[in-house]
Amino acid sequence: MEVVNTAVIGLGSRGLGLADMYSQRSHVGFDLRAVCDLDRARWEHARAVHGRGLACYADMHEMLDREDIDAVIVATGDPHHVEPTLAALANGKHVLVEKPLCQSVDDAQRLVAAARASRGILMIGFELRATSVFREMKTLLDQGRIGEVKLGHAFDNVSVGGDYFFHDPMRQKAFFKSLLLQKACHSLDLLNWLMGSAPATVYAVGGLGSFGGNAPTGLRCHACGKSATCPYYLDKDHVALDYGAPVSRPDYCVWSSAMDLDDHALLCITYANGAKATFQECHFTPEYTREFWLVGTEGKMYGFYDNPGNFRIRIGRRHSQAAPQELRPPREEGDHGGGDNNLREEFHRRIVENAPAPDALESAYYATVLAICAGESIASGGPVAIPPLG
Ligand SMILES: NC(=O)c1ccc[n+]([C@@H]2O[C@H](COP(=O)([O-])OP(=O)(O)OC[C@H]3O[C@@H](n4cnc5c(N)ncnc54)[C@H](O)[C@@H]3O)[C@@H](O)[C@H]2O)c1
Repeated sequence: MEVVNTAVIGLGSRGLGLADMYSQRSHVGFDLRAVCDLDRARWEHARAVHGRGLACYADMHEMLDREDIDAVIVATGDPHHVEPTLAALANGKHVLVEKPLCQSVDDAQRLVAAARASRGILMIGFELRATSVFREMKTLLDQGRIGEVKLGHAFDNVSVGGDYFFHDPMRQKAFFKSLLLQKACHSLDLLNWLMGSAPATVYAVGGLGSFGGNAPTGLRCHACGKSATCPYYLDKDHVALDYGAPVSRPDYCVWSSAMDLDDHALLCITYANGAKATFQECHFTPEYTREFWLVGTEGKMYGFYDNPGNFRIRIGRRHSQAAPQELRPPREEGDHGGGDNNLREEFHRRIVENAPAPDALESAYYATVLAICAGESIASGGPVAIPPLG
């Protein structure tokens, strides 16, 4: 198998996990040559896994000058995707950039233009598109099993919001912009894909229904009198394994007045082909799942996803006495229901076949811009037109 030499920029928990995935330790088609992080303490985590000889850089440009590196994985935090991606593309590298692509429409357009001009391929970390359940749904829709899709609905049930996001002082609009962009962009991408068209307008409402509140900004779990009863109490020394890498989570209060990210949102979307969809994201549901409903001219499809891989598809047909068809797409190996491994295969194939990825660019652009425009709509109270890709 042709070997693609890789480098990773950003060694948080996700970047360390990806460094492992895109190395010889996990896949014969990838050889990890170098890593980069501004924080040198992160290098040690990578060296502990990949050996003392792993080349580590603080300056990404120095690393990107290396001619032996073919592909770069960008896993910096959300506000820091643009510069490394542009620099890697300018150096002719193939790039897998983590979601969200970026945090502004201007940056999305700049990145698309740079990818089109580069000899490198740009893909985004939308691994859910590569899971069996969503691939199967898309195939069935393309086969016309429910006719032409006219109406859609998707629900992001995020029970883990309190654990993943709201304890951290960075979990604010100033850093993430919105959870629609940071978290729901996966499902917005899937919805766009399943609807089979580009989003044209969005009207959205959102707010705080559970998290945030009146607790003082600096309140920490370990200093709180309610720690024995609070369902979100976090031990201050709490170290979790996230994508196989150790992370310690800050223990700021989830009921703090500093928490200004909306914990729920509802979107009404029109598509360029006239179809329409609604979307809901909620960070205080009991369950952590994603659900999709699609109504076509000849029937209706339901799709269910969770990370453990209890995938389900149900198809009912109009004017039919037959019971709805139930399908159970298999869970495949790897994180995110097998999506991470399948996306890695696709990245490898596109690189060795030198196959550009306009579909990945389109997917990255529209999911990102839809989430950004939904945030603008929540702020303005009116519908927002989504700038087409061009
Ligand atoms: N696809 C998925 O399912 C998935 C899952 C988890 C995280 N993510 C995404 O992965 C990204 C990383 O997440 P994380 O939780 O590991 O983030 P993190 O903030 O914990 O780590 C980011 C790292 O990037 C480094 N960094 C920032 N700017 C840099 C620069 N200019 N040069 C070198 N290093 C730099 C920081 O020092 C830090 O170590 C995020 O964008 C997140 O949204 C995607």
